Amino acid sequence: MRTQVGIIGAGPAGLLLSRLLALRGIDSVVLENRSREYVEARIRAGILEQHTVDTLTDAGLGDRLRREGLEHRGIHLQHPGTRHTLDFPELCGRTVWVYGQTEVVKDLVAAQLAGGPPLLFEVSDVRPEDVDGDAPRIRFTDADGTPQVLECDVIAGTDGFHGVSRPVVTEAGGRLWERTYPYAWLGILADAAPATDELIYAWHPEGFALYSMRSPSVSRLYLQVDPADSIDNWSDDRIWDGLSRRLDIDGWTVSTGPVTEKSILPMRSFVSAPMRRGRLFLAGDAAHIVPPTGAKGLNLAVADVTLLATALTRLLREGRTDLVDAYSDTALRRVWRCTHFSWWMTSMLHTTGDDFDAELQLSQLRRVCSSEAAARELAENYTGLPIEG
Ligand code: FAD
Ligand code: DHB
Repeated sequence: MRTQVGIIGAGPAGLLLSRLLALRGIDSVVLENRSREYVEARIRAGILEQHTVDTLTDAGLGDRLRREGLEHRGIHLQHPGTRHTLDFPELCGRTVWVYGQTEVVKDLVAAQLAGGPPLLFEVSDVRPEDVDGDAPRIRFTDADGTPQVLECDVIAGTDGFHGVSRPVVTEAGGRLWERTYPYAWLGILADAAPATDELIYAWHPEGFALYSMRSPSVSRLYLQVDPADSIDNWSDDRIWDGLSRRLDIDGWTVSTGPVTEKSILPMRSFVSAPMRRGRLFLAGDAAHIVPPTGAKGLNLAVADVTLLATALTRLLREGRTDLVDAYSDTALRRVWRCTHFSWWMTSMLHTTGDDFDAELQLSQLRRVCSSEAAARELAENYTGLPIEG
């Protein structure tokens, strides 16, 4: 088997890269170790920045997004007694969209299977080889158990945090940065009409809470919990009680309904540099992880592959190496901006049990809610800064 770009991993990064390359006449093969059903059901992010929506739309994937997605013009920032609205169009001229990662992945898979480049599910033993030379390859075992070799011009490692690509890059050198946080998110999906127009990010002495949504009839809510806590300790009643207390404001209540999914998500910041070794390029969670506060993870993966698609097209069509040579540095500048923003939002909103920290957090929240300059800084980062290059 031969292709121009061998892509490892069919998350949003790998699928979108394959699509962007196909639109520019570059062929690829996507290898995914899970099943289609698993990949399409994995509940994760929900907020799309303006540039992500524009990129998906330009790639012919905007129809359902614009029909079923919900455009949001701001967020509410809350601390006890105060719920303040940030108006994004007024502050920075941009908006964001609520459209689940599951839906983005379903749209990408459907487009790929409807005449797009090959997408192979349930492969195993995936190994990138000879990435330092001009003719790298990927060895893998297909879903029938037959060993295969995919000869490529380049390989894209879009196989997420636990994938096989990053170790191949780091064994040749480079640097890692990591920060773990002393809290986690308990997330639920509930069949309940959201009781709020915009997302609510709430600081509370008991811990952070976030009110988000997936549709006019489905709510997505999160509670700060101890990372060592078990989901078995959280009955639905205990979750709703916690959400009601932390999101409480006079004359308003959380709307409840059957909980259809609940889990505890760990939080970390992680950056691996460079995002390239020879002809192997990393993108998305394979190279970096941000804590979810601020909803950057999926958007950053989209920004990486937008850059990478252009750089690979220039390499494979014109033989010019300038953009692939610049890829890692250019991508990492955005990665660090989003790493800082996600860390800042996380640090401002999650209680640590320390009174001094609490006063600093409340001071920062009051500042964002009273200074247009501070609010604009949040709005510009939240809605997504322009993509370089
Ligand atoms: P992934 O989505 O991880 O895709 C990688 C793909 O590679 C997967 O399909 C995987 O099965 C496949 N793969 C792995 N190893 C191999 C292999 N060896 N061979 C072949 N295929 C392989 N971000 C937010 O902004 N907001 C959120 O609320 C949010 N919640 C999250 C909750 C969880 C539990 C997790 C893990 C992440 C969350 N994120 C969130 C982050 C966001 O979902 C990711 O940033 C985004 O999925 C990155 O896309 P990706 O394509 O780079 O990686
Ligand atoms: C969602 C996730 C986030 O991390 C966030 O900041 C806002 C919303 C969500 O899953 O809806």
